[in-house]
Amino acid sequence: MHSPRGGKYRALWALGTALGNPQSCASIAKVMRAIDLIERKRDGGELSSQEIRWLVQGFVNGTIPDYQMSAFLMAVYFRGMTEQETVALTQAMAESGEKIDLSRIGGVKVDKHSTGGVGDTVTLALVPVVASAGLVMAKLSGRALGHTGGTIDKFEAIPGVRTELSLEEIRSQAARVGAVIADHTADVVPADRLIYELRDVTGTVPSLPLIAASVLSKKLAGGADAIVLDVKCGDGAFMREWAEAERLATTLVRVGNRLGKKFSALITAMDEPLGRMAGNALEVRQAVEVLQGRGPADLTEVTLALGAELLVLAGEAPAPAAARACLIRLVESGRAWEKFRELVAAQGGDLRAVDNPELLPQASTAVEILSPASGYVQGLAARNIGLAAGLLGAGREVKGQAVDPGAGVELLAKVGYEVRRGQPLARLHTNRKERIPEAERLIAAAFHIGPDRPEPRPLILGRVA
Ligand code: URA
Repeated sequence: MHSPRGGKYRALWALGTALGNPQSCASIAKVMRAIDLIERKRDGGELSSQEIRWLVQGFVNGTIPDYQMSAFLMAVYFRGMTEQETVALTQAMAESGEKIDLSRIGGVKVDKHSTGGVGDTVTLALVPVVASAGLVMAKLSGRALGHTGGTIDKFEAIPGVRTELSLEEIRSQAARVGAVIADHTADVVPADRLIYELRDVTGTVPSLPLIAASVLSKKLAGGADAIVLDVKCGDGAFMREWAEAERLATTLVRVGNRLGKKFSALITAMDEPLGRMAGNALEVRQAVEVLQGRGPADLTEVTLALGAELLVLAGEAPAPAAARACLIRLVESGRAWEKFRELVAAQGGDLRAVDNPELLPQASTAVEILSPASGYVQGLAARNIGLAAGLLGAGREVKGQAVDPGAGVELLAKVGYEVRRGQPLARLHTNRKERIPEAERLIAAAFHIGPDRPEPRPLILGRVA
């Protein structure tokens, strides 16, 4: 017997359906069968918005079992979805739980989503930078996934920081501070959490309409007016090839705009990690450097480019160049840094640890990896660096495991650097000494050293607006 999932959402759905739909939930259920919808999708047919809504609703309330939803997801994986179906799936998922209502807060509400990378600590810097420009950013974020880090694990590396905020806490901090970084709550878009759990174990994660609906449903429920998407492309990204990344960015922006919000997307390079750190407290240090105007060029550039998109989307700047100049002034004047301190304090963080990053958690052991040859770093595989950081303790191996905030990889050389044989390329930080040989192997394999200086590669690969 299949058990219902979450009575609270069953009640919400029943109400939503009764209000928004001339047919009652019960009468729809009489005429629809999951098997018919699965077969139609399997055979390449199209589902109506009402059918998709019924399916998502049934899955969330427990009347459609995991095995039928899994079969449906696999049919979508192979057959895809039309744009209209993707819009309907996104809406149905966004409506599966509560929404963050920021409508009574003054100022333009903005949001950002990255498809995930290594060393991608942009959110920690971007939220205070755009908030110091007068925008309101209440960002719901996730934890480390696979070889990629998660903003919530990073933010929690600051002692005292609390990220599990209630919807009311999110709203009131957004109104007071203009900046929030909170863990995805179980109440917002429960359909995404439930569907993602199935996708994760049924080989259906890399499906363009499923990724689009997952990302966009969370952004719709997040209450922002304007949203920028950072679609990562390259070795350390979900989308390794340009064509795939471009297709995802285009779908996200088209579907997002059809849903009545302003969206734009940047496609950014993720062949080598962003910045010099992969690991939670290590990346906080890096975000602090960006906010104080002394961060690594690539991380600073992606932060400014995404921030500039938001200022333009929000109507606060006429063009990205002017927006960028404004953001640089906010960093140089110290206002972005002050906003970060305000954000950390509002969430209970110990300001001494951000003012003196040496007080952030540190691992007990640090080991350097030396260059096997002299030459130029021609490539630095981001995925291996992310995997090594996870292995050293920065990520999880089983659901719910605590991450080690001090663990990770510090890169001492990046693509384009000239190195000598025996020079340190990276420093490993860990409390798990037994993991060091495997991490060393991954990092040694990540560095490609050759005689020629590589051509500089662009960081911002494309823009879809
Ligand atoms: N990020 C998400 O939020 N959902 C996906 O399906 C993939 C990446």
